[in-house]
Amino acid sequence: MIRQIEDMFFLEGKGFSYVMRVSREGYLLHDWFGKRIAPVPYPEDERGWWCVQTEGEDGVCLDELRQEYPGYGHTDLRRPAVSCGPAGLVLKYAEHKISAGKPRLSGLPSALGDGAETLTVTLRDADMKVRVDLNYTVYEDYGVICRSAVITNEGESELTLDRAYSASIELPRRDLNEIHLHGSWGRERHIVENPLVPGVADISNARGGSGHQINPFITVKDPAATEESGFCLGVMPVYSGNHSTEIEVDQRGRTRINSGINPFMFEKKLRPDESFTAPECLLAVADGLGELSRSFHDFIRDRICRGKFAHSERPILINNWEATYMDFDEEKLLSIAKLAAELGIELFVLDDGWFGKRNNDRCSLGDWVVNRDKLPSGIGGLAKKINALGLKFGLWFEPEMVSPDSDLYRAHPDWAVRSGVRAPGLGRTQLVLDLSRPEVQDYVISAVNSVLDSANIEYVKWDMNRYITDMPRKGFNHEYTLGYYRVMDAIVSSHPNVLFEGCSAGGGRFDAGVLCYMPQIWTSDDTDPMERVYIQYGTSLAYPPSTMGSHVTDGPNQYTRRPVSMKTRGDVALSGNFGYELDITKLPESDLEAIKAQTALCREIRATVEYGDFYRLSDPFKNNVGGWMSVEKDKSRAYVTLTKMLFRPNSWYTHIRLKGLEPSAEYRDKFTGRTYMGDMLMNRGLLVSFPHGDFATLSFLLQRNH
Ligand code: GLA
Repeated sequence: MIRQIEDMFFLEGKGFSYVMRVSREGYLLHDWFGKRIAPVPYPEDERGWWCVQTEGEDGVCLDELRQEYPGYGHTDLRRPAVSCGPAGLVLKYAEHKISAGKPRLSGLPSALGDGAETLTVTLRDADMKVRVDLNYTVYEDYGVICRSAVITNEGESELTLDRAYSASIELPRRDLNEIHLHGSWGRERHIVENPLVPGVADISNARGGSGHQINPFITVKDPAATEESGFCLGVMPVYSGNHSTEIEVDQRGRTRINSGINPFMFEKKLRPDESFTAPECLLAVADGLGELSRSFHDFIRDRICRGKFAHSERPILINNWEATYMDFDEEKLLSIAKLAAELGIELFVLDDGWFGKRNNDRCSLGDWVVNRDKLPSGIGGLAKKINALGLKFGLWFEPEMVSPDSDLYRAHPDWAVRSGVRAPGLGRTQLVLDLSRPEVQDYVISAVNSVLDSANIEYVKWDMNRYITDMPRKGFNHEYTLGYYRVMDAIVSSHPNVLFEGCSAGGGRFDAGVLCYMPQIWTSDDTDPMERVYIQYGTSLAYPPSTMGSHVTDGPNQYTRRPVSMKTRGDVALSGNFGYELDITKLPESDLEAIKAQTALCREIRATVEYGDFYRLSDPFKNNVGGWMSVEKDKSRAYVTLTKMLFRPNSWYTHIRLKGLEPSAEYRDKFTGRTYMGDMLMNRGLLVSFPHGDFATLSFLLQRNH
């Protein structure tokens, strides 16, 4: 619900109010983002007294005001949301409108607008002839507000934007911590929490994609906030390129948060009448980290993910990558697929190595033509044989890349991204295709579409295995990202029956922008369950289990050499979109029996895991146990997974209190047959006892008795 009353705007979503006002001088000020307050106007706060007189023409010092979309350079000298040179921008309220639904953002992915209402406030700098349209979208059923900004040059000469954040929000306090998800390849999205101090924290990434290193999800919270309670504010740009969330604690102890495109190496020249649309940014406030995550999870599942698969149970897959790498032929693949079908697996995915002369990673990216030496009946023939075994068929692509040793590169060497100053750096012996160019986008669209249209392909793994270096100009990364979005839109919208899974050397591009096209993403190449406990726990801060690919691979794990039982590997992987990635034809009978049981269990629990409410129970970054549970929306069933990292003799007891159940209902654990009351499980909790040894898991499948 959006109301304008006097000089104030009251926006309400599920459980929160977002309040702004137009100051007496005409500035759009932020007032409140937090728990619901009545939509009744109240007086503006007294302004502070400042000793260095820097007031503008209307006698106000912008440094003192909490503006909704601040510029720099006039009388506000803090980090701005928007900037186009040293003279700065001074934006004042011009007009507003309230409309049903939500505007589409030109060329950018954004949340679906069903059931939404949008306030658009237009600001203007009359001297610079710049107009900014700020969009605020709220939904009755979601605890998330969507913001975006469109900047228009209303002058007669060219304007250079050097920063254009999606949203800015300024809290009147400084005693806060920030949490972000940090990592690298094989160690994505580990939780890092830091106190905010006076100065600027720039939580950003400039590696081309949203990145393994810093995920575009940042939380600012009360230092004492826990999973269950305390002020938490989450910020998530819907963006897959270089992003930044800049947090400035200023000289007056206020905290300004700007979030969106990373201004480093960004620039956009605007001709007269031209507009620039900054990506959407999702914001949510909650009482506790758990509630914050559940708000984002619901929103991502319902308004970011879309299409046929957004709400359907995801197939159990087997991927041949770690089973064969590029050394396979049709016979080998079919032997894996045949056994997979017998074990209850539903989808066979052919990974890298099926095209061109791709027998190693030094060639052929760009040549999306099947290698008949390996696959004599082609992709179509293989897909038919896989389908005849009762499995769906899926295929890997890495369409944004080109190998120097490829027919594509020989024909179009200029299509690779290069600075023109020196030879571009290679990553995994490959170069990046310049997706800022329409003809390159068209090539990628037609190359991928022609393979997809040639066979019964029901799943695509879309990979992107290197950073983008040697960029030709400032602003290139955003142009590339827009090109990527155009390509994704064209391919995904013309293949509504194909399930797309994003991937970027594991989880290097895990963001809400990607999720607008592909409802699931490969979480990490690191499938060691002990590593995955950290990675999946960290990822869950922002993203629901339905977005996380998680597979059982060989033991000992290929990267960590850690020997972990098939049971533990299965239990941890069952907390996401489940699958396998190992040569099942070489496994002992006991492992095959375990796989049969796991696939049967997956079918039983996947609706709960993928679409239930997610609760974190024990933080592996702080304890020897990582724990979480998913509870169906109607509380009829819950699935709990606890993982003990190391065995310690005579160690602390592990006391786990469950969450989200119906207090007065009786629940029966399907694995042990024991029954418990919901309130007992949530208040008293259980003293749990793990099997002996390192890396042990315990799970409960609780079914409510009627
Ligand atoms: C990346 C992916 C892997 C696999 C390989 C294939 O590393 O993350 O899952 O697909 O590429 O080359």
